[in-house]
Amino acid sequence: MKTTKFLALGLAAAIATISSSAMADGGEDLFKKKCGSCHSVKAGEHKIGPSLAGVIGRAAGTAEGYGKYQAMKGASFSWDDAKMDAWITDQKAFLKDNEGVVGAQKTAMSAKIKKPEERAAIIEYLKASHD
Ligand code: HEC
Repeated sequence: MKTTKFLALGLAAAIATISSSAMADGGEDLFKKKCGSCHSVKAGEHKIGPSLAGVIGRAAGTAEGYGKYQAMKGASFSWDDAKMDAWITDQKAFLKDNEGVVGAQKTAMSAKIKKPEERAAIIEYLKASHD
């Protein structure tokens, strides 16, 4: 009886470990696939889009040295989980919903992530990959 309980606990812990590492990997892979052609998470490394190093918690439109902002030029809000979730769901809808705090109603970014669990994994990856 005792042994069974011990084994069950061990198994639960093993499963928890596997699923948490699977989630982190998922975020990195998703980022590479869905965002990586336009973004890097290295500070100062800009592509078509700005570097996303440390983006969660910082003011929108302020990646140093990036000169191609449209929507985020002069924006007056900071990125948090909710804003990021809405932005990567649908850029046009985000700009409309945030009129007044975004800089313009146009952007060259085009990336709609439909699945909530994929958005969550990407956001976790962005938080974990500060350098
Ligand atoms: C086709 C290229 C492209 C893809 C793909 C893309 N982005 Fe962007 N991204 C941009 C551009 C261009 C901007 C600048 C936005 C503006 O000001 O109009 C931007 C801006 C951003 C910003 C605002 C940064 C800041 O400094 O305020 C965030 C956050 C962001 N992207 C996250 C993502 C994430 C996460 C993904 C993947 C799900 C993604 N982007 C996919 C091109 C892209």
